[in-house]
Formats: sequence, C-alpha cells, structure tokens
Amino acid sequence: MPLVRPDELERAAEEALRSAGATDEEARIVAAHLVTANLAGHDSHGVLRLPQYLAGIEAGSIACGAEIETVRETPTSAVLDANWGFGQVAALRATEMAIAKAGEHAIAAVALRRSNHVGRLGEYVELTAARGMIGMCFVNGHGGAHNTVPWGGADRRLCSNPLAFGFPTGDGPVVLDMSTSAVAEGKVRTYRIAGKPVPDGWIVDSEGRPTNDPEVLYSQPRGALLPMGGNLGYKGFGLSLLVEAMAGGLSGAGTSGPDPERGGNAMCIIAIDPERFVGKERFMAEMDSLVEWVKSSRPAPGFDEVLVPGEVERREWQRRTREGIPVDDETWRQILGAAGSTG
Ligand SMILES: NC(=O)c1ccc[n+]([C@@H]2O[C@H](COP(=O)([O-])OP(=O)(O)OC[C@H]3O[C@@H](n4cnc5c(N)ncnc54)[C@H](O)[C@@H]3O)[C@@H](O)[C@H]2O)c1
Repeated sequence: MPLVRPDELERAAEEALRSAGATDEEARIVAAHLVTANLAGHDSHGVLRLPQYLAGIEAGSIACGAEIETVRETPTSAVLDANWGFGQVAALRATEMAIAKAGEHAIAAVALRRSNHVGRLGEYVELTAARGMIGMCFVNGHGGAHNTVPWGGADRRLCSNPLAFGFPTGDGPVVLDMSTSAVAEGKVRTYRIAGKPVPDGWIVDSEGRPTNDPEVLYSQPRGALLPMGGNLGYKGFGLSLLVEAMAGGLSGAGTSGPDPERGGNAMCIIAIDPERFVGKERFMAEMDSLVEWVKSSRPAPGFDEVLVPGEVERREWQRRTREGIPVDDETWRQILGAAGSTG
C-alpha cells in the first residue's frame, strides 16, 4: 500500500479539485480537510472521498463557487444556505460565525442547509476548542441518505447522523466525534475494499438480521447500519433523533422522511465561551483535572491505559505526519483515474 506524504497528498487533491472547477479557496479548504481526516486516522472521510467529489462537480450536484447566504440572523444565531456548494467550506463559515457570536454573547448556534458533505465533524469542534470554547456539532443527511435502521426496525429510516463535541484542555482538546449509527458508512466501505468481514454489531441485512458481510450495504436488497450501542442500541437511536432535530429541524433542511429534497448534509454548530461563565482559566483548570482524574484509573484487563476522546486521533496524527498516509491501491487507482479525467 503506497505511503504518501501529507503535503504531497494535499497538493494532489487541491490540484485535482481546482482543475475540476473548484475555486482556489474551495480547493484549498477541501483538500486540507480530506488530508486532515486521513491524518486523524479517519480514512473513511479522507481522500477516499475525492473521486466522489469530482464526480459530484461533473454531475452538477456540487456547485463550485456557490455563494453562502445568510437567510436569518440574530446576535446569537444564524441560518445559512450553502446553495449546494462544498460542505467543508460552508461548515467552516458556520463554525467561524458561531465562534464570533459566542465571543460576543457567551453562546451561539448556527444552522446550515443545502450543503454537500461536510466531512469529519471533529474538524469544526477542534476549531472551537482552539479558540478556547466548547463546541457541539450535529449533522443529518438533509432528510435523505438513509442507511441506518431505527432501534427495533428492519428498514432504513435514518442516516448515520453524526455528532461531535470538543473542549480545550492544557494538553490538547478532548474531542468526541462519532456517528450515532454503530459506525460511519465509509468505515464499512473500507472493509469492503479490503475484502474483510465487518465486526459484530455494525450491520444488518435487508430483513434486519445481523451480518458481518459488508456487501449487504451495497447490493440489492440493501441492508443497513445498526444504531450505536450494540444491545443498548436504543441509546444511539435516541441520539440520532436529537441530531435530526438540531441539524434538520433548526436549519430548515428537513428531517429524515420519505420525500427528501436530495441527499446532502445539514448541520448545526453551537459554540459556548467559558470566559463568560467562570472565566477561561478556571474552566481550563477544571477540564485538566477532570482528564487527569479519569486517566488515573488502573487499566482494566485487556487495556493498556484510559484514553480520552480525541486521543486516538491525535496519536495517529503524529504517527502519520512522521511516516506518511497509507492509501490503499483501489483508492489510489480511483484518485488517479478521477484526476486524469479532469486533466
Ligand atoms: N459528514 C457526514 O455525513 C458523516 C456521517 C457519519 C460520520 N462522519 C464522520 O465519520 C468519522 C468516523 O465516525 P465513527 O462513528 O466511525 O467514529 P469512531 O467510532 O472511530 O470514533 C468515535 C469517537 O470515539 C473516540 N474513541 C475511539 N477509541 C477510543 C478509546 N479507546 N477511548 C476513548 N475514546 C475513544 C474517538 O476519539 C472518537 O471521538 C467521524 O469523523 C464523523 O464525523 C461524518
């Protein structure tokens, strides 16, 4: 499997996007986002997506140079319409807006609709954390892209509806970034590409029966992802409904239903500035002692240590920055093919 240097991969992705029609700013933001996802170890949201984005530009489902409109605004909230431009660009704008408003008024929420795939949510709450704020992010499939069964159901009714939150500590941010389905669909795709069975508790076939065969997600009649939580999957299902309300409900994109406008991402990002509550210093000291406390636990059998959310990604980031990003042969072939077709 080729190991590619992050800066080379980013330059290649940026050039491919630009030659397909993306503006310089779009190409720069999207390429950086994809490579950052690879660095964090989330290959399902890395350059694997590039062929899909290039095909989206060609088909007209991704509008290059789309204007991001502010549809409604108050001092502490906004609703943005991305006009079906690049999701990463619009999500970044929404995040910057929420941070600026929270800086003024302690807390702010910005909702986004008519956006394409926003990618790895961790990126947005890492940004709020880098500015010393708590961030919470919710993303649905714009009412469509159904790939997950509700708890107790055998039919696709929801999308993998991810959520993320992050807060700063003295030793880097704590970032929980997760689908409310057992895993992101892209993770099943990486198993399918590798020809490997997926672990128990991830997917069901079209009749709602548990299976380890990743193929059921892609062939007819289609299977589905399970909600997160294994035999407590009703918790993931409940959180998925929260995501629908926050992302689909507040943005006006719509929640999952039989007649979505089209697949895409709707998002809501909340920023909270601790400075306006107890002051940044006291908040950070509290978060530092919380992390120290949980990590001071003796490891349970089978574990080496307690990790906080975001730590796995941070370590992978350091390793891949040093060693390079592994890009599997199939993805590499697809990237070269797609880049070749855009010249
Ligand atoms: N834009 C979209 O439509 C969309 C949809 C679904 C998922 N996603 C993205 O897909 C990515 C993968 O999602 P996922 O659900 O497969 O994530 P995952 O299961 O790999 O990780 C979930 C979280 O668990 C934490 N974690 C992992 N191991 C841990 C450990 N041992 N101890 C403590 N914490 C630990 C990670 O730091 C992470 O925050 C995410 O970046 C998500 O934003 C995007």
